[in-house]
Amino acid sequence: MQKHTDFLRKKLQARQQKGSLRSLQSHPDKIDFWSNDYLGFARSPELRAHIATLAADSTHGATGSRLISGNDALHETTEKEIADFHQAESALLFNSGYDAGLGLFSCIAAVGDTIFYDETVHACIHDGLRLSRAQTLPFRHNDLRDLENKMQAVTSGNIFVAVESVYSMDGDVVPLPALTELAEKYGAAILIDEAHATGWLGATGGGLVDALGLQGRIFARIHTYGKAMGAHGAAVLGSTVLRDYLMNYARSFIFTTALPPQNLHAIRAAYHWLKKHPELRKQARKHIEFFRKTATPTIQKNLLPSETVIQGVVIPGNERAKAAAAVLQTAGFAVKAILYPTVPRGQERIRVCLHAHNTEKEIRDLLATLDKLLR
Ligand SMILES: Cc1ncc(COP(=O)(O)O)c(C=O)c1O
Repeated sequence: MQKHTDFLRKKLQARQQKGSLRSLQSHPDKIDFWSNDYLGFARSPELRAHIATLAADSTHGATGSRLISGNDALHETTEKEIADFHQAESALLFNSGYDAGLGLFSCIAAVGDTIFYDETVHACIHDGLRLSRAQTLPFRHNDLRDLENKMQAVTSGNIFVAVESVYSMDGDVVPLPALTELAEKYGAAILIDEAHATGWLGATGGGLVDALGLQGRIFARIHTYGKAMGAHGAAVLGSTVLRDYLMNYARSFIFTTALPPQNLHAIRAAYHWLKKHPELRKQARKHIEFFRKTATPTIQKNLLPSETVIQGVVIPGNERAKAAAAVLQTAGFAVKAILYPTVPRGQERIRVCLHAHNTEKEIRDLLATLDKLLR
């Protein structure tokens, strides 16, 4: 076994030399500028109490996969509520956003089909595409001209286009109305991951498709519950045929224990909280404006264009980005350096996540520290 362990050690050493070795961190006492808990749902004692009341009599284990013993009536009620909220024909729950991406993208297309994907999509889409039997082709980030040039070359099979609403590392938004027009021109179906839009984007917090009223023109949407919804799990929204298909072909749905009822109550409670607390969305939006307005010219030079809760300040080089994160952490801010290969070389950055529960003073202090760092 020694040689097996030596192999692993060598791989880790190579990562360390490149400055991209990952390790676990925890900063419970620092000011939260790194979590995906954009509305503070995961930390809300009131929401926790509400979930506890709903889940008081729930079992904490699902006992099996949905297709065997794990299908509780509550799964179907929750799916119906999710579909109604987002004005979709149907919804199918998955155990996480990663599982939803893996399941959907691996099975949705067949040999002879083509899936185009934005080059910056999340790992769960990449991993799903790797398992797909279709041809999979990247297009330049948010570049519809590049996508159209590539679509023109496809002469047979179904075409799909995979995008995210809010890109998880850049924080920018897909130009969805124009993409929808383009997809319709070429008879392509859009698959959109709404992970970082769910809960805070749009008047109801329903995400980008809801905000733009495009529900009827998008083939499939993934909403995740581990981010602004403060819970865990995900749902794929689309037609009832899509739901039946995924139940039959998405292996990350079929071959895993279902979400437990307690978790379903947390998802239902989060939707209830969205309706009850629109002020949290407003607060999050105010902070985005405040952050961008208050950023000094020095920061602005490195600030990625974004009108969302995800803001990126580019500090090129893994070592420089990591050192900057360490300075910010020592100053009391929980932030994350995003390194190559997660982002392209030269685009390493500090990723700042803004939340309803941040204060303007916290944002101002963070920006002041960042400004000093960049000078
Ligand atoms: C765009 C995107 N999709 C999917 C996921 C995975 O979601 P989950 O954390 O629920 O597995 C993430 C998580 O970071 C993400 O950023």
